[in-house]
Order: sequence, then structure tokens, then C-alpha cells
Amino acid sequence: MAKKLVFICVLVLLSLTGKGGAGARLSEEANILRKVEDFDVEIGGGDDDVEFLEEPFWVSERGNKVLVNVDTFGAVGDGVADDTQAFVKAWNQACSTRGSVLLVPQGRRYLVTATRFKGPCEGKLVFQIEGTIVAPTEPKNWDPKNPRLWLGFYNVSKALFQGHGVIDGSGSKWWAASCKKNKSNPCKGAPTALTIDSSSAVRVKGLTIQNSQQMHFVISRSDSIRVTGVKVSAPEDSPNTDGIHITESTNVLLQNCKIGTGDDCVSIVNGSSDIRMKTIYCGPGHGISIGSLGKDNSVGIVTKVVLDTAFLRGTTNGLRIKTWQGGSGYVRGVRYQNVRVDDVSNPIIIDQFYCDSPTPCQNQSSAVEISEIMYKNISGTSKSKNAMKFACSDTVPCSHIVLNNINLESRDGTVETYCNSAIGFGYGYVQPSAECLTSSDKEKIVKQEPELAQNSQGYLIHTEL
Ligand SMILES: *[C@@H]1O[C@H](CO)[C@@H](O)[C@H](O)[C@H]1NC(C)=O
Ligand SMILES: *[C@@H]1O[C@H](CO)[C@@H](O)[C@H](O)[C@H]1NC(C)=O
Ligand SMILES: *[C@@H]1O[C@H](CO)[C@@H](O)[C@H](O)[C@H]1NC(C)=O
Ligand SMILES: *[C@@H]1O[C@H](CO)[C@@H](O)[C@H](O)[C@H]1NC(C)=O
Ligand SMILES: *[C@@H]1O[C@H](CO)[C@@H](O)[C@H](O)[C@H]1NC(C)=O
Repeated sequence: MAKKLVFICVLVLLSLTGKGGAGARLSEEANILRKVEDFDVEIGGGDDDVEFLEEPFWVSERGNKVLVNVDTFGAVGDGVADDTQAFVKAWNQACSTRGSVLLVPQGRRYLVTATRFKGPCEGKLVFQIEGTIVAPTEPKNWDPKNPRLWLGFYNVSKALFQGHGVIDGSGSKWWAASCKKNKSNPCKGAPTALTIDSSSAVRVKGLTIQNSQQMHFVISRSDSIRVTGVKVSAPEDSPNTDGIHITESTNVLLQNCKIGTGDDCVSIVNGSSDIRMKTIYCGPGHGISIGSLGKDNSVGIVTKVVLDTAFLRGTTNGLRIKTWQGGSGYVRGVRYQNVRVDDVSNPIIIDQFYCDSPTPCQNQSSAVEISEIMYKNISGTSKSKNAMKFACSDTVPCSHIVLNNINLESRDGTVETYCNSAIGFGYGYVQPSAECLTSSDKEKIVKQEPELAQNSQGYLIHTEL
């Protein structure tokens, strides 16, 4: 009900500011606002479709489950012996047997090297991880055929990865060898702890992924993936250790995840749409990011992303969209709502001048276009003066940026909003003020009829309260 009222007010503002030929465009503006405010992301591949097992099968009344224990295949579990072959054999057995549960027993540490676990499997597979899976510590001995991979799962459909277990990348030597740590090191990628690629209807539940060599959990080229209750943990100064990275994937839900790491808690990049994040804890880390996109003049497309309920503490960015100069494509349809930040630098940031490179980046005229971005009920404390920063390309401005119910302050001093080439508006309570967002319509009215502009704004604020 309240939402409807606010919405009507915005319509009133838009129609008040409407003038002749601008009318059609303004009603288009209103439609876009309604769209961004109301769209939702439906995630398929849910419990109903997949009938996942909630409990380990041995406490379940349901029969027809085949237990495949890695120990049966010769895994030692002392953290020293190489258990890779036992895991591969157990996977092959479980994957080719209908209704199997692949068990990694608790209380043990299984050393496993870079491995590709391939589907498709017979029926629904449950990978029950109760113990710890650890990676070898020494980068020099890593399999050169898989420089970016540790545990990879491919072509899996209808699978559940769950348990109280830990996936530990033993990353400290990799971090020390990073060029981000020491400029005399060569810049090369390190393995991702857990990868789910080319898969669908997969759930990941309750696991802890920690100290990855580089990214912790990558979801790539996949559809209908649900990640719930997953914990990611790595030191604040571990380089490029993104928490959950989503690329070329659709219908992804991240829910109740606690992520503390040395890079983005979540990063969503090219080819991803219908991504829903609900109740996310982030910190330490670099925030919850869309991008980076457009590097090396590439095409980057991300659409329909919703973040609902998040708590960010001590992160170097909050809600961030980052694109490189010279890219193309677009980010369209993003809604951030109900977010609390605590001592966060750049709580709200769009950065179209992103440049994560040892040499400065040149300004270029093409850019990834950013539009239909809504921020709603975002509050807390900013560590930087620019609590809101919309640094958009001069040639490809950001458009339809909408702010509502924003309350960002600083413990010491005032905060402000920075804008470059950003078109949009705020309504309701917006602190710091977002006056620097330009709207051609608003500007026109302010120039021509300052009184009406003030009235319409007054009306808005009044009704919102
Ligand atoms: C996944 O399946 C596709 C199609 O069947 C196949 O082309 C591809 O090689 C498979 N990938 C892996 C890693 O097995
Ligand atoms: C960086 O690496 C170089 C060459 O390996 C080494 O000599 C130097 O001590 C390292 N610096 C730091 C700060 O670790
Ligand atoms: C972006 O994603 C699309 C869709 O998945 C893909 O076809 C394209 O190759 C990707 N581009 C880059 C630069 O990765
Ligand atoms: C605003 O967001 C905070 C933090 O998530 C939440 O506790 C509060 O209930 C939200 N307020 C409304 C009106 O939804
Ligand atoms: C690129 O453009 C932005 C916005 O106009 C400006 O602030 C920045 O200084 C420019 N950078 C370079 C390297 O020219």
C-alpha cells in the first residue's frame, strides 16, 4: 500500500515536470521506475523440482539410497596421503549409480589435488561433505594442466552438495606469490577452490569454503543454482580471493551466506541474469559487486539482479558496479534494498573508470551502459566522504538511477554524493542529498519554473512521510 502511494507521488512529480513533447518520455520514465521497483527474480531448480534430500540418507526413512564412501575407495584422510584417486573412483561410482550419496566422512582431512569431476550422472546425486577437503600447499607442485582449477564439477544436473564440512584451499603460499603482494612476482592466476560449470538444478548447502588459492566459489555457464547457508572465509589481505563469483549463469540464488575475504564477497560478471541475493553478510572484503565488465574492450552484459537484506561491515566498497573504459554491453535492472552498512568505504558506488592495472587506464569513448539501478532503504556509516559515488562515462551516461530512503552518515564529518554524468533522481528521505544526479526534466523545470519544481519536491517529501 505504502509502496503504491510513493509510486503515485513519483508519477505526480513526473507528470508535474512534464512539458509537451517530454510527456511521452516521462511516462516511459514512470514505467521504468515501476519495472525496477517491482520486478522479482524467480529461481527455478528448487526443492519441488528436484526433491532434494534434507537429511543424510542414513537418518532418513526414505530408502533406495546407495552410500558411496570415499574411504571404501582407499582414501586415507590424514591430510598427508594423496586421496585424489580415491575421490575420482568414488565420484565415478556415485555418478553412475542412481540415487547415490557420496560421503566424505567427518573428523578427517582429505588431501586432494586439482580434479575435474564430470557429469552427467544417473539421477540425483548427493555429495555429502562432513570432513575437510584440503589442497596441497605448494604452488610449485601444482598440476600445470589445471593452473586455475582445484575442485571442478562439470555437466552436473540435479545435484546437492551439502554438509558441515570444509573445503580448504591452503592458499597462503599462493597469496605470497601474487603480484598484488609483491610487484616483483609475475601476475598469473591461481586456482579456484570450487567450480560448478555447465550445470543446472544444483544446490549447495551449509558448506564452508576457506583460504582459497584465489576465488573461492565460481558458478559458470550454469542455470538454476541455489546456494544457501554457505560460509566463505579468508584473510582480509589475501589477494583476489572473491567469495562467490557468478559468470554466464542465470537463475542463481544466494541466501544466508556469510562471506569474509580479501576481494569481492560476491562478483557477478558477463552473461549473468536473474540473480537473487537474500540475507548476505559481507566483511571483510571489497563489497558486493557487479563487474568488473568491459575489460580489454570486451562486451559485458548483466541484467536483473536483486539484493534484498545485506549487512556489510568494514568493507572497502559496499554496493558496487564497476566497468572498464572501452567496453560495451550493458548492466540493466538492478535493485538493492534493505542494506545496512557499518564503517564501509564507498557504500554506494558506480565506477565506470575501473582500472585494476599497474599502469593507468586511458579514457575511451565506449563504455558498458548502466541503467535502471534502484537503491532503496540503504543505511549506516560511511568511511569515505563520498558515501554515494556515481562516476559515469561522459559519452555513455548512467541513466535511471533511483534512490529512495537512503540514510548514510559518517562518524567524523559530513558525507556527500559525487556524480559525473549520472541521470536519475531520489525521492523520500535521501541523505546525503542526491541533487547532483541530473535529470534533464528536473533541470528544465528548475530553470523555467523554480517554484513548481520546489512544490513538486515538497509534495513528494510530504507524502513519503
Ligand atoms: C559437457 O557436456 C557437453 C555436451 O555433452 C560436452 O561437449 C562437454 O565436453 C562436457 N564438458 C565436460 C567438462 O565434460
Ligand atoms: C619481493 O620478491 C622479491 C623477489 O622474489 C624479494 O627479493 C623481496 O624480498 C620481496 N619483497 C617482499 C616485501 O616480500
Ligand atoms: C559474455 O557472455 C556471453 C553469453 O554467455 C558469451 O557469449 C560471451 O562470449 C561473453 N563474452 C565475454 C567477453 O566473455
Ligand atoms: C530497512 O533495512 C533494514 C536492514 O536490512 C531492515 O532491518 C529494515 O526492516 C528495513 N526497513 C524497511 C521499512 O523495510
Ligand atoms: C577520464 O574522464 C573523467 C570524467 O570526465 C575524468 O574525471 C578523468 O580525469 C579522466 N581521466 C583521464 C585519464 O583522462
